[in-house]
Amino acid sequence: MNALVLASTDGTLEFSTGMQDPVAGPGEALVHLQAAAVNRRDFWITRGGYPNIQAPCILGSDGAGIVEAVGKGVDPSWIGKQVVIYPSLDWGESQNAQGSDFRILGMPDHGTFAEKISVPAQQLTEKPPHLNMHEAAALPLAALTAYRALFSQGRLQSHESVLITGIGGGVATIGLKLAHACGARVLVSSSSEDKLARALALGATAGVNYTRENWSDELASSHGRVDLILDGAGGENFGELLPLVKPGGRVVSYGGTAGPSVTFPIRYHFWNQLQLIGSTMGSPTDFAEMITFVKKHDLKPEIDSVTPLEGGGDLIASMAGSPQFGKLVLQIS
Ligand SMILES: NC(=O)c1ccc[n+]([C@@H]2O[C@H](COP(=O)([O-])OP(=O)(O)OC[C@H]3O[C@@H](n4cnc5c(N)ncnc54)[C@H](OP(=O)(O)O)[C@@H]3O)[C@@H](O)[C@H]2O)c1
Repeated sequence: MNALVLASTDGTLEFSTGMQDPVAGPGEALVHLQAAAVNRRDFWITRGGYPNIQAPCILGSDGAGIVEAVGKGVDPSWIGKQVVIYPSLDWGESQNAQGSDFRILGMPDHGTFAEKISVPAQQLTEKPPHLNMHEAAALPLAALTAYRALFSQGRLQSHESVLITGIGGGVATIGLKLAHACGARVLVSSSSEDKLARALALGATAGVNYTRENWSDELASSHGRVDLILDGAGGENFGELLPLVKPGGRVVSYGGTAGPSVTFPIRYHFWNQLQLIGSTMGSPTDFAEMITFVKKHDLKPEIDSVTPLEGGGDLIASMAGSPQFGKLVLQIS
């Protein structure tokens, strides 16, 4: 079968036409993938910036397709169903945090950038009917991350306000849609005026360009401080976020696109009694709740572009400059 394969641990990605078809083992389902979606994680892996990289490995955490076969012990009524794949493997028993066996689909286990994948049947969820295959493939990892960060960890309420940083990101754009649908007031930041305008069109109340000096003062004086910040950037400027949070408010951090370490003004943290909360992917409960929420509000992930699987290598490389607004989707068949 065709697949995008990480060929060596230095990050070399190859389009292969000769990967062996997987088979459904006991407890597994074989999915004929129609579409997949790219995440920043795939970019980090190809740059060697991810822990425990193993090769060869088919990358890809997000996928949607049709169940072609099932292994022993799996309900055969799955065959022929259109499905999305829950990308957290072996999350564990606790809702508070993942267990030690937790893995993300697409490294070290073979992922979704392929014509077929075999996954444990408990990873399957029926595709929400209002989504096409591209939209369904764009949903799982980003929406799961945003849902847990906003609601399970961030405890966002409908009467509250939230600032979502770097709104061009895949997690950020679906985060905007989730937060807006719950009734919260959503502020956003971006490096791009065009992306800010697009976020306003999707329901954001206001946006500010974080590359401008004093952007956080500008935002606070025009729109007030927020109850919650959702941040996937981290980095040296993380500290600029804290004065934007109301006393008793929360900052949920789910990534470090701008850098792995942060410094921040500790006085804002303790004096304003802030809560700094980490969040990663999500539990089976988070995933089920996210799918229910997305169906209830007819939400669709924002798709930047759709590219054939063969072009996946160039697509992932293009993420260096973050030109995208929303998700980068791969068309498989
Ligand atoms: N913990 C988890 O489970 C989890 C899950 C998913 C993602 N992540 C991590 O979260 C981050 C975002 O993931 P993604 O897939 O949504 O990435 P993405 O789609 O590649 O988004 C990247 C965006 O980050 C924004 N950004 C870059 N530098 C920034 C800065 N200094 N301040 C604010 N925003 C900045 C940019 O927004 P603008 O273009 O608007 O400026 C850019 O478009 C990545 O680091 C990823 O590894 C973690």
